[in-house]
Amino acid sequence: MLVASRRCAKDVAACQPQVFLKMQDLSPAVRDSPARLSDRVRNIPDKRAGKEFDLGIAGPPGVSFVPGLAAIDEFPIEIWERLRAQVLARKGADLLQYASSRGDADLRKAIAAYLCDFRGARCHADQIVITAGTQQALMISALALVNRGKVAWIEDPGFQQARRVFAFAGATLVPRPVDREGITIARRSRQLAPKIVFVTPSHQFPLGMTMSLARRTALTDFASACNAFIFEDDHSAEFRFNGPPLPCLQGLDNSVRVIYAGTVSKTLFPSLRLGYLLVPEQLVDSMIRIRSVMDQHPSAIDQATLARFITEGFFLSHVKRMQKLYADRREFFIEQFNSLLGDRFILQIPEGGLHFVAWLRPKTDLAFITRVASEIGITPTPLSFFCMKAQLDPALTFGFAAWSRAQIQEGLLKLASALKAKRP
Ligand SMILES: Cc1ncc(COP(=O)(O)O)c(C=O)c1O
Repeated sequence: MLVASRRCAKDVAACQPQVFLKMQDLSPAVRDSPARLSDRVRNIPDKRAGKEFDLGIAGPPGVSFVPGLAAIDEFPIEIWERLRAQVLARKGADLLQYASSRGDADLRKAIAAYLCDFRGARCHADQIVITAGTQQALMISALALVNRGKVAWIEDPGFQQARRVFAFAGATLVPRPVDREGITIARRSRQLAPKIVFVTPSHQFPLGMTMSLARRTALTDFASACNAFIFEDDHSAEFRFNGPPLPCLQGLDNSVRVIYAGTVSKTLFPSLRLGYLLVPEQLVDSMIRIRSVMDQHPSAIDQATLARFITEGFFLSHVKRMQKLYADRREFFIEQFNSLLGDRFILQIPEGGLHFVAWLRPKTDLAFITRVASEIGITPTPLSFFCMKAQLDPALTFGFAAWSRAQIQEGLLKLASALKAKRP
């Protein structure tokens, strides 16, 4: 024992700061040689990954029409802060400790009740796993179900994060075209069956159509036949402006193979990084095990606050207020856009969601429009950004929900005048 500790003391003495190698002492070949990174890092397909929100998603202040943004300035922060203080006072130091990897029990109960009452889901609280948003829900599901090289189907055009996450998890991505009814299913017999199918049935992202009942049934039958799971991303279901809300796919009879994911990124605010998985019973334990290996759990304080926000009725009243506000902004955007930019675009009007797809009229130059728009700080996303193999006509996706009527008018006027002034 004594010998061992003497040796330790000698080793430590040998490591005095003056004998550490300084960076400048290294030969340039060693100092400048690139770090040997894993294939995983090299395979992240999109060079923007990790940098895209450094300047804030909407870019510089003002109207950018970036798609998918909620009106976060309308969020009742004072209520949130009051509930947060109350849960901390009531639960005290317990909330500062490591917490369950399933998620806060009150929050899971509140979410299960919300999904059954408002999204037509069929579930109980033990099937809910709290996640850090849809993105982590995707990662947990991919890691649970898809071995390296196995197939994941994703809608094309589709949600870019689904593409990134499944590829990062080692899946072979198979882009699937979408038609008016949603993802297309027909598969040649020699093609490998998928392990997981990513879909956005309530509002196809980014094109906006609602998956028909016939397609929903065909999809669940297909998943049963090939032993696959369906990942249902119900991202903007709360914001549907024409007709009554449609129940989610998970609520259908034949839904034992549906993994449902919801998020508060659009209903409340995205930096909260909270979402939820509703998982078939047979998968619950595996999902939680993966969750625990990743990061244990999201902030216990935020989860407890959200539970109170939902159970005390603030969630529903905020969503209802936003539905009205967005319906008004949406109508105004359509009217202004058609009158100011209708000569260059055909605006497609979806039943729900927080953005529009605007198709360019024939002989209109996409590169010219995006260049002029970005010079004045207006940055709708080109539809091609969401495509893998799909060859669609040129279009831009415009967000509308995050800006007031006055800002929408100002932004569209600015764009229309800049395009006129710089006509090529
Ligand atoms: C299609 C789609 N699903 C889900 C989300 C939400 O993702 P997260 O919960 O990770 O913020 C978004 C956000 O823009 C989205 O566009």
